Amino acid sequence: MLVSETTLISEQTAAEAVAAAITAITVATNSAELREARSTFTGEGSTLARMNASLKNVPNDQRAALGKLVGQARGQVNAALAAREAEVLVAEETARLASEAVDVTAVATRWRAGARHPLSLLMDRISDIFTGMGWEVAEGPELENEWFNFDAMNFDEDHPARAMQDTFFIEPLDSHLVLRTHTSPVQIRSLLDRALPVYVIAPGRTFRTDELDATHTPVFHQVEGLAIDKGLTMADLRGTLEHFARAMFGAEAKIRLRPNYFPFTEPSAEMDVWQPNAKGGARWVEWGGCGMVNTNILRAAGIDPDVYQGFAFGMGVERTLQFRNEMNDMRDMVEGDIRFSQQFGMVV
Ligand code: DAH
Repeated sequence: MLVSETTLISEQTAAEAVAAAITAITVATNSAELREARSTFTGEGSTLARMNASLKNVPNDQRAALGKLVGQARGQVNAALAAREAEVLVAEETARLASEAVDVTAVATRWRAGARHPLSLLMDRISDIFTGMGWEVAEGPELENEWFNFDAMNFDEDHPARAMQDTFFIEPLDSHLVLRTHTSPVQIRSLLDRALPVYVIAPGRTFRTDELDATHTPVFHQVEGLAIDKGLTMADLRGTLEHFARAMFGAEAKIRLRPNYFPFTEPSAEMDVWQPNAKGGARWVEWGGCGMVNTNILRAAGIDPDVYQGFAFGMGVERTLQFRNEMNDMRDMVEGDIRFSQQFGMVV
């Protein structure tokens, strides 16, 4: 039995220290616990470390034997630590890979696809019909200068037509800004922006102080058409509108014009469309306004009416969608319920 009286190094102490260490190492299940065991059983202050340090005090004749004893004990503990460490690392790696695994065959949770609003689709469709004839799509601001919305469109300062349209005026009133009540101001903007001849279609949002109900909405859409060229006549207007009607309502569609008044056209007409495929049977429906561009408009844009003439038309997009696709309640169009868009969005 090896015992060093001076240093407490003994086979028994070493064996006990090794046994305690191996027990702790065996039950460690992760690297944190293993680190803890390493520090307890091999770190400074551990029995084995203290034994090792005290070897210097061992009498010369015992040093080799005791040195070997301590060395073997530390060797056993280190070997156990290394072996267990290897196992724990593998287990941890396996667990990490399992937790990060991606099942590429799993059914993905999908966001429900949106649907374009039928009004947008209809406006795109209308733009397509006209760009197909070489027209351009024009835009103007929704917050419009009163001058463009009314004055340039030939509404006098106290013209009753100005009051006819229930306007959202923007405060302060001397800003002279309004939410545009129609897309007609895009006519004058297009003429100021472009070189002649001008053929533009302008779909866009418009505003009037109506309460929302089944047939009205304060925010709605119109589409404006304007053609200015040499020698345009009412026959060109008629032909254009007839083509438009057929593209929208089928080959048998036609239009008819009834005299009316608009300050920006002279002569002016109300336009009805013969809708051959209406659900309740073919019928005439009021579709929009039109006319030959008033010479005052041409002059406001610096165009000589003796050289250039033109025609214009405008219609409500909601109204068109209503009778074209049998949508009876305007409120469905503004609510933004995706089921409405999905139902109608595809067929417009
Ligand atoms: N701007 C008119 C309105 O909102 C519609 C209209 C009528 C537009 C005749 C036109 C037109 O271009 O020629 O009621």
